Amino acid sequence: MQVDTSRKVFAQPSEARINQGAGTLFALEADISARFEYRRCKPDHTSITRTKEIMETLQDLLENELQDVYSAETQLVKALPKLAKKATSESLKQAFLSHLEETVGQVARLEEIATLMGVKMTGKTCKAMEGLIKEGAEILEEEGNAAVIDAALIGAAQRVEHYEIAAYGTAKAFAEHLGLTEVADLLDATLEEESAADETLSGISLDEILPSTNSGDSEEEPQMEADEEGAEKVKSKSAKGARKKP
Ligand SMILES: [Fe+2]
Repeated sequence: MQVDTSRKVFAQPSEARINQGAGTLFALEADISARFEYRRCKPDHTSITRTKEIMETLQDLLENELQDVYSAETQLVKALPKLAKKATSESLKQAFLSHLEETVGQVARLEEIATLMGVKMTGKTCKAMEGLIKEGAEILEEEGNAAVIDAALIGAAQRVEHYEIAAYGTAKAFAEHLGLTEVADLLDATLEEESAADETLSGISLDEILPSTNSGDSEEEPQMEADEEGAEKVKSKSAKGARKKP
């Protein structure tokens, strides 16, 4: 499946699209909260019991992986708007918002998989994503050079993307091995989006953010210009002196 990454890099979602995405996001959050509330009101220990059974079959393990990545995605739906708000670069903001829309779609895709497999997606917390988001949240508190902070946000977001790429790659391989073609195709669609999002972030970093951090060559150029100016003054002085002599 070919993904047009250039379109994603520079895609500027209209305000209507963003509002529509936000509407879906709120509905999704309400739905997730309702499910968690239900779990709090009527706690069952299915997930704890299942941990002991999980390695019985590859299908059990796949279900566990899917629950883990479902938890990761729902956590990310809440974290991405904060990254977008903190970003200074307009293209980085848009990249985070575009990926938020995609992530809402990825949650829906996992729910479609749940229906296909006849399993529940809720019941597990992805501790890895909790940690990655917690680490990323430290950047939200930082103040300083805007480009450097944007570079830090990209680093945090790419850690998340790489985690997701690993998780979806694993789940897809399990699904393919089990002959669950439709499930594997859905996982592959998300895997392509995660890879494209990672490439988008790399592109923004290399083309825009890193050159704006005023490091490396940019510090040498003024010195070179100063040296050239000095050399011109010396030349001009020498020329005047040479003219005065006769
Ligand atoms: Fe994702």
